[in-house]
Amino acid sequence: MTLIPRLVTLVGFALLACGTHAAEPAAALTLPSTLKDAVGHRFHIGAALGTDLIKGEDPRGEQLLATHFNSITPGNVMKWEYIQPKLDQFAFDLADRFVALGQRDRMQLIGHTLMWHSQTPDWVFQNADGSEISREELLQRLRAHIAAVVGRYKGKVAGWDVVNEAIRDNDGTLRTDKPWYRILGEEAIFAAFEAAHQADPDAELYYNDYSLENPVKRAGVLKLVQAIRARGLRIDAVGSQGHWGLDWPTIGAIEASFNDFTNAGFKVMITELDVTMLPRPMNYFGAEISTLFESAPELDPYRAGLPEDKQAELARRYAEIFAVFAKHSHNLTRVTFWGTTDRSSWLNNFPIRGRTDYPLLWDREGEPKPALRAVIEVLRDAPAP
Ligand code: G3I
Repeated sequence: MTLIPRLVTLVGFALLACGTHAAEPAAALTLPSTLKDAVGHRFHIGAALGTDLIKGEDPRGEQLLATHFNSITPGNVMKWEYIQPKLDQFAFDLADRFVALGQRDRMQLIGHTLMWHSQTPDWVFQNADGSEISREELLQRLRAHIAAVVGRYKGKVAGWDVVNEAIRDNDGTLRTDKPWYRILGEEAIFAAFEAAHQADPDAELYYNDYSLENPVKRAGVLKLVQAIRARGLRIDAVGSQGHWGLDWPTIGAIEASFNDFTNAGFKVMITELDVTMLPRPMNYFGAEISTLFESAPELDPYRAGLPEDKQAELARRYAEIFAVFAKHSHNLTRVTFWGTTDRSSWLNNFPIRGRTDYPLLWDREGEPKPALRAVIEVLRDAPAP
């Protein structure tokens, strides 16, 4: 479904209304094409959906999706705490709506995520009396959860983030401080991949993590995905989340990550792309959601709007990132943004709550930013795959 004609002329009324913070003259925000037309057949281009959009409460976001994207991932509603909040009580309503929305607009549907240390209720790891459950019982709960969720969307969800963020940032080892891995070790991961494949043999299966540009963490992830493959289990690609900044990671580090995985025979996907414009507290580079810091005015400098020079920096950064994606498109199967508009981004609340960030290609009103035009132009001018 195309709600806007191919030649997309979107005028930045909202930016002009902001006066001094207008990034560019309105006329300059003419887009040569939609984002998905500029990407062409190189890779799928996706966005994560917030719960308001899934509920039908974000018409502008829905329109952007249908016009510019061909793949969607649920930001939250397929996570364990949403879909099985209590033992054997499944709540599929919002996940069903996500799937129906994607089918209506003929999107590639990505399931996110089957096993993660975050957003999993405590009861999963406990007996009725609060004591820790046995290894066998936990494996059984994991398998039953995956059979129910993947089975329900069999033939509809094209690929699953089976396991999310199992490896530590600092030394590349398994997160054995988290209950999944403390109780089950690596077997948790093997069991999850096995159960997902049993529930839908045609679905693609992925391992998904952040900071893969860090060589130590990457080595740990590479070892893990090789172990999954060595077990004879299906694994189609490694998801590199891509929660990045203006000057980190370097383009060289992004390419090194692509090369290490593809040389080992894995396809790569960028699964959660965004570029924070805000200062990092205490040199924090990760996406570990439990890490929160106190706010301070100097850590939230653009509450009134993003200055023109910063808007241009973001456009330059996105252009260099997409030039690398175009170069590696033979090994890159999908690029997904973690949200549609700046308003919908998790970065407004991480790693400090209540800040005003500008990490995506559309502003808070849903108007295109210069970064969107820069991405379209770089893809248009890059050599055909
Ligand atoms: O549950 C309450 C809800 O009842 C309330 O209405 C809402 C209002 O603010 O807050 C609620 O929950 C929040 C939830 O998002 C839904 O908005 C949680 O507090 C908040 O922690 C949660 O954050 C999500 C985060 O994962 C949690 O781990 C983000 O939206 C989501 O974008 C983020 O996504 C993760 C990926 O799954 C994995 N990789 C990292 C990425 C970013 O953290």
